[in-house]
Amino acid sequence: MEELVKLSKAWEADSPEVGGVSWTEKNLSISLADNNILGILVEGKVMAFVVLREMDHAIEVDYLATDRRKLRKGYMSIVFSYLQDFSKKVTKPIWLEVSMNNTKAIKLYEKFGFIKGGARKNYYKKGQTAFNYTYNP
Ligand SMILES: CC(C)(COP(=O)(O)OP(=O)(O)OC[C@H]1O[C@@H](n2cnc3c(N)ncnc32)[C@H](O)[C@@H]1OP(=O)(O)O)[C@@H](O)C(=O)NCCC(=O)NCCS
Repeated sequence: MEELVKLSKAWEADSPEVGGVSWTEKNLSISLADNNILGILVEGKVMAFVVLREMDHAIEVDYLATDRRKLRKGYMSIVFSYLQDFSKKVTKPIWLEVSMNNTKAIKLYEKFGFIKGGARKNYYKKGQTAFNYTYNP
């Protein structure tokens, strides 16, 4: 848990495109109470993780991040491959929201076949618009 909070906090200060979401120990633990974590560990260290919630008709991704020191090494791609396998296994789509300024994340979702849906204005704390993205297994 401490490691996930640290990894998440490292993105907060200077990355407004992430949406100003601050994942403290408190909200991460609240979230973990009814969510699941899918992540990749290398030598016991978290490289990348996704916080997700399986609902009746969909899997919702609440948060995801890669360790800032380990970017563009394919770690989130590995997590996404497992996430898609899970989506296929349970035959439920994956839903997520992303700030329209978050180019890296948008590229990741589009690479993995997520389809852009509607936009939600002022969705984030700092007023950015969010795009909905869906992956259909
Ligand atoms: C978005 C993020 C999760 C990508 O993680 P990553 O482990 O670096 O991703 P990967 O190395 O698996 O890259 C997968 C794909 O993502 C896209 N991508 C990742 N970094 C990118 C960059 N700097 N520029 C453009 N595209 C990028 C590319 O499509 C890439 O595929 P490619 O390397 O074949 O071109 C990471 O940048 C991150 O943690 N960002 C901050 C948190 C965040 O924005 N979360 C989402 C909103 S809550």
